[in-house]
Amino acid sequence: MFSGFFGLFSKDLAIDLGTSNTRLFVRGRGIVVNEPSVVAVLRGPGGKTEVVAVGREAKDMIGRTPDSITAIRPMKDGVIADFDATSEMLRHFIQKVHGKNFLGKLRAIIAVPVGVTEVEKRAVRESAQSAGASEIHLIEEPMAAAIGAGMPITEPSGNMIVDVGGGTCEVAVISLGGIVYSRSVRTGGDKMDLAIINHVKKRYSLLVGERTAEQIKIRVGSAYPDDEILTMEVKGRDLISGTPKTIECNSDEIREAMSEPINAITDAVRIGLERTPPELASDIVDRGIILSGGGSLLKNLDVLLRKETGLPVFHSEEPISGTVIGAGTALDKLDLLQQVALGNS
Ligand SMILES: Nc1ncnc2c1ncn2[C@@H]1O[C@H](COP(=O)(O)OP(=O)(O)OP(=O)(O)O)[C@@H](O)[C@H]1O
Ligand SMILES: [Mg+2]
Repeated sequence: MFSGFFGLFSKDLAIDLGTSNTRLFVRGRGIVVNEPSVVAVLRGPGGKTEVVAVGREAKDMIGRTPDSITAIRPMKDGVIADFDATSEMLRHFIQKVHGKNFLGKLRAIIAVPVGVTEVEKRAVRESAQSAGASEIHLIEEPMAAAIGAGMPITEPSGNMIVDVGGGTCEVAVISLGGIVYSRSVRTGGDKMDLAIINHVKKRYSLLVGERTAEQIKIRVGSAYPDDEILTMEVKGRDLISGTPKTIECNSDEIREAMSEPINAITDAVRIGLERTPPELASDIVDRGIILSGGGSLLKNLDVLLRKETGLPVFHSEEPISGTVIGAGTALDKLDLLQQVALGNS
């Protein structure tokens, strides 16, 4: 059962360092960490900083911290925006898995967005190194997501994966273990949340935070209309009186409010299809498009993409964990790893 490089006492880790969530996977143990990519930092006298919470605990502090504590999201648009906070976060999660004083060699594979710059790649490697990893491989997120979705990526046929995350939407066509076409747009679930915040502010003069906006998106948000119109009560602060207020919003207005980020996703898919070499495009017509990532769970996004492209569209079986599982699978199989890992720089 615990074959390959991984084992019950394995020091091998797959990491999906996402804008919204960080996930760690160990073969034989499964997903060992799945927490928001958030770090809460206390700023002491003289500007000295100290990490007070990481992950879920830190996310709960967003918008609720005293002035001295800041909740930081160290990843922005899929890449490291705050190097120190990212390193601290990784160290915290790796220690959670392996204990504080683990000995031995820690191999790690980290999923990064397509098209990250050399500087960004180095930042990811260095932060994993400072967190205790000695051998580090990088894999592009759509490649990992496609492996995680069980797509036959090493065959000479076109596989299209659309990964909608918190910060980025990546469209990729993979064949023979390589990315033939990819396009990454810096839009995703976060932009949808922001669009909801702005809508509620404009329409109801109500201020709501990121967490409330996300809840609205998940509960009543959709990419394509349904027969039934859903409504939801939303609490926030009145912009004018400054006091708490409750309003009711519905699924139609929320879909309308999110149209810009949603259109950016459909545009990216359309352009991807236009630029795919014809032989591979005909494979995609047969096999369809696979959707992955938390943002792909937006209600009716599959319906919208089906209407827009006329192609079959399916959800990955593991939309949330597919990327980290796929990365772990690659690390486990040396021949696959050699084919799909990004070269050292
Ligand atoms: N049921 C749902 N409906 C709509 N959106 C959802 C749902 N569940 C999760 N999300 C959204 O998915 C996003 C997070 O997705 P995911 O965890 O795949 O992103 P990530 O990997 O951290 O980001 P990225 O890949 O861009 O770096 C968030 O914006 C979250 O609000
Ligand atoms: Mg992701």
